[in-house]
Amino acid sequence: MKFIVNGGKKLEGEIEVRGSKNAATKMMVASLLTDEECVLENFPRIGDAEITKELCELVGSEVKNEGHILRIKTPNITNFRVTQLSRRNRIPILALGPLLARTGKAEVPILGGDKIGPRPVDIHLEALKALGARIETDENYYHAEAPQGLKGAKIHLRYPSVGATENTILAAVLAKGQTMIENSAIEPEIVELILMLQKMGAVIETGSDRRIYIEGVNKLKGVSHRILPDRNEAVSFASLALAHPNNRIKVVDARQSDLITFLNAVRRIGGEYKVENDGIVFFGASNLSANNIETDTHPGFMTDWQQPFVILLTQAKGTSIIHETVYEDRFGYIEDLNLMGANIKVFSKCLGELPCRFAGNGQPHSAVVSGPTPLSGRNLKVRDLRAGMAHLTAALIAEGKSVIEGVEEIDRGYEDIDGRLKSLGADIERR
Ligand code: EPU
Repeated sequence: MKFIVNGGKKLEGEIEVRGSKNAATKMMVASLLTDEECVLENFPRIGDAEITKELCELVGSEVKNEGHILRIKTPNITNFRVTQLSRRNRIPILALGPLLARTGKAEVPILGGDKIGPRPVDIHLEALKALGARIETDENYYHAEAPQGLKGAKIHLRYPSVGATENTILAAVLAKGQTMIENSAIEPEIVELILMLQKMGAVIETGSDRRIYIEGVNKLKGVSHRILPDRNEAVSFASLALAHPNNRIKVVDARQSDLITFLNAVRRIGGEYKVENDGIVFFGASNLSANNIETDTHPGFMTDWQQPFVILLTQAKGTSIIHETVYEDRFGYIEDLNLMGANIKVFSKCLGELPCRFAGNGQPHSAVVSGPTPLSGRNLKVRDLRAGMAHLTAALIAEGKSVIEGVEEIDRGYEDIDGRLKSLGADIERR
């Protein structure tokens, strides 16, 4: 499927942020921890949720989706093997904990790397082993067992990985005894998962210094929970508004508290926004100025904001430096931006001050953007979800026509993106 975009149109009006992809999918997995019904409100209708639905159904869930409400109930785990998925995302590895907790056994596919880096799950596996799981790996699957059940433990994560933190939490809430996770990720989506689990009966709290404390309980119950707004969607729409002087977009349901670092970065480059009770209005600017960004774990500048912000920096005056410290290969989309008229050079050196795991390993994880450069439309092929949205943003602010292929990747994380952009005045057609 592709999008045909005639760029440069004025984008004005309101766009509502949907529920967070990276919370919704994890909450579906969390629902596997109970035999009672879980109701997720503000549920996004996106490709990744469909893939996760398939996963849950495969192990025994009954799933009903009405509008933006998802009802999911798993009376029994009828199958501990996640072996028949028709499509892949990164969620199955998170099902290890709930499946082990309910059946003592689990089998999930090996995920392999993707277009933003090798994405290993070694930290997930170390944590689950510390909780007592025995895990063996063959060519395609992780086979896990905990015949005596999982037992609480003190776990230090070598890196505050989002997925490894979630995996450990999901495994520890029904484990026997206490778990302390040190150096955990503390992203808003994780805090929200903790809130949901607490409502389900888990005893769990966050301490200072990236610590999470969990006291295992015997049983969890059903819950009704409203999913937090997607801060990555909010940043995508904010960047689209700011990147063209004619634009003015109110991002309804964008939460200032989840966007503090982004909003500071916007202010530093001279972007204007106004926080209102029910969202944030972003104003297109013609006099943005360059600045430097280093991506980091929360509360730092998020890696998923890097791509939309680079588009903004192509429209800013001067030289900006971006140091990507979370993923080693997240600049692949830049080649296309340069073909559209941007002036961006990619380097394997660390061009920043944050300690970085990629120092000296030759990975292209720093970029220098010189601007402002007008962009012109062209044919583009989507690389991954966030880069795809960056392509679309670039096409919308560029002069002329762009054809963007592979938009299924964008649909994985953005509900009815073309329909919603059209309501702002975008000239976009899906074919
Ligand atoms: N890492 C390891 N070993 C592990 C786990 C992670 O080396 O066992 C490394 C990764 O290779 C990566 C870094 O740690 O370099 C961060 O990975 P993390 O585990 O924090 O990320 P994730 O859980 O795989 C989630 C989001 C990503 C988002 C990152 C960072 C989901 C489904 N995905 O991924 O979102 O970029 O956290 O915030 O929640 C997206 O939405 O498009 C997306 C990629």
